[in-house]
Amino acid sequence: MKTILLTGATWYIGSHTAVKFIQHGYEVIILDNLYNSDISTLKSITAITGISPKFYNIDLRDKKSLQTVFEENSIDAVIHFAWLKAVGESCKNPFLYYDNNIIGSLNLFELMDQYNVNTIIFSSSATVYNTLVWTSPFLETDIIWNTTNPYGTTKFILEYILRDLAIHKNFRVINLRYFNPIGAHKSGLLWENPNGIPNNLLPYVLKVALQELPAVQVFGNDYDTKDGTGERDYIHVLDLAKAHVQALTYGLKQQNNLYEEINIGTWYPTSVLEIIALTEQVIGHQLPTIISPRRPWDAAIVYCNPTKAKKLLGWEAHYSVAEAIQDSWNFITNQANFQ
Ligand code: WQD
Repeated sequence: MKTILLTGATWYIGSHTAVKFIQHGYEVIILDNLYNSDISTLKSITAITGISPKFYNIDLRDKKSLQTVFEENSIDAVIHFAWLKAVGESCKNPFLYYDNNIIGSLNLFELMDQYNVNTIIFSSSATVYNTLVWTSPFLETDIIWNTTNPYGTTKFILEYILRDLAIHKNFRVINLRYFNPIGAHKSGLLWENPNGIPNNLLPYVLKVALQELPAVQVFGNDYDTKDGTGERDYIHVLDLAKAHVQALTYGLKQQNNLYEEINIGTWYPTSVLEIIALTEQVIGHQLPTIISPRRPWDAAIVYCNPTKAKKLLGWEAHYSVAEAIQDSWNFITNQANFQ
């Protein structure tokens, strides 16, 4: 049985990926500092899989504590999710992002090398693409210089560091560039459950549906898009979790010096107004909506060409945006029934 370390896996994408790896017969170790996630996620993972993964409450910047994980376990590969990932927050507090995302990751990479763990699936992002220079659908070969926010910069820098490690330290690296993850587990037991006011569109819309927020803010309706609002490539978190399993399966079969960047998206852009309309269909009533000014870092249209994922990993998205919204709402109503 292969043992994999998932960093940041009490967070949204990491927890769904942990479930998928457990279901595929891997031994999963979870490490998280619980900065923007909740330890109750571990109970949900256990409720779904019947397995209680080993958990370390560690911050990657605490290298001494991190080393105990490698001392105590024989790790075959790392799936690295331990990130701060809010574009807007990174613009307001870039040094927090450089410290957490880069320093923490360097500690991890050094210990991987020291303990001969040389296979990593890296949680990268569509934010590495320079939307001021290139237009959708993005290809992995589109130049990613001049990222448009500090969050994207940290991802861009670490992609290049991992490419160095593939060349000079025989690492096997697959950078998965996520587009916009949404949705929840079909069990109704796992979602992203954001603390406070969500940064991302769908969790915000669903807080309005719950009347926890007064109205949906549409950040700009004068873009050159199908209805004037921003378009994104929304990918169901279950499809995204599956991509990690297929990426690791591919990675473990390769010789060393592996370095690949792979888009994980659907090739299909959905607008803000379409997300709102689909949500209204799911919840059965209209949502209060106001048109607000654009966010300065926002691009009009961001979606990808996922052909490489299909060719290299045999992966493609199966779930629709409507299904992802329905699954998210099922989680929320299921939680309400629990309380
Ligand atoms: C989507 C669209 C907004 C909120 C995300 C993640 C980032 C990275 C890339 C993984 C835009 C509009 C939003 C709201 C709105 N993912 N919007 N009202 O900016 O594409 O970035 O994907 O690494 O981590 O943040 O996602 O959900 O913030 O915005 O109108 O209240 O919805 O303008 O067009 P974004 P988002």
